[in-house]
Amino acid sequence: VISFFQPKLLAGKRLLITAGPTFEPIDPVRGITNRSSGKMGFAIARAAAEAGAQVTLVAGPVHLNTPRGVQRIDVQTAQQMHDAVLPRAAAHELFIATAAVADWRPAELSEHKIKKNGSKLAPTFELTENPDILAAVARLPAGQRPFCVGFAAESQDLVKHAREKLVRKNVELVVGNLGPATFGRDDNTLVLVDAQGQRELATADKLSLARELVREIAARLGTKTH
Ligand code: CTP
Ligand code: CA
Repeated sequence: VISFFQPKLLAGKRLLITAGPTFEPIDPVRGITNRSSGKMGFAIARAAAEAGAQVTLVAGPVHLNTPRGVQRIDVQTAQQMHDAVLPRAAAHELFIATAAVADWRPAELSEHKIKKNGSKLAPTFELTENPDILAAVARLPAGQRPFCVGFAAESQDLVKHAREKLVRKNVELVVGNLGPATFGRDDNTLVLVDAQGQRELATADKLSLARELVREIAARLGTKTH
């Protein structure tokens, strides 16, 4: 109801957004994952759709309903998320990476369940690094590269780490949040870090924050031509 009266700040814009965790299987019954409810990403997808954007949401395993009007692609692993995002990125003006992507995956996937078999020795797993989806999108050549927004969930030194990621991944904006207190909760506190400086968004429910974030991003997009 409220959104009906809001200006369509992202009218004509296409948003590609990742959300949720990824799940990296070890064997048919186990895997490695990250803590992420996907709530913030889904709230942003909803707020962007309300603001008139055409939204493609690439989601890891989460238990959330797809926001109205949003096209959703479900994936499980970081590699699948990467393969869903990269070919689509150039067709979008805006990319927002909210997913808590597993940084590593087991180097080998066991076809069958690994059994204890009375062994005293616990198994060890070799890990291999997953592709950095956000950094890969940000490396696309001009003309194919959307405006890029990253998230940084940190347990300490939030602004320092957020700024380091802004530079390392070469993105326009990094949104920081301090965890794990807020993970899975319905409210959150965010800090926006970009080349101009930093700005804190007061603690609020995730949908209110998402709407404020959409306003902040729309203002930045408006001053850039892609
Ligand atoms: N990200 C991504 N692909 C990855 C890892 C991270 O797209 N393989 C994105 C996240 O969605 C987020 C941003 O990069 O928008 C920062 O993620 P984060 O995990 O905080 O950064 P890392 O570079 O993985 O550094 P670290 O986990 O060591 O803090
Ligand atoms: Ca990481």
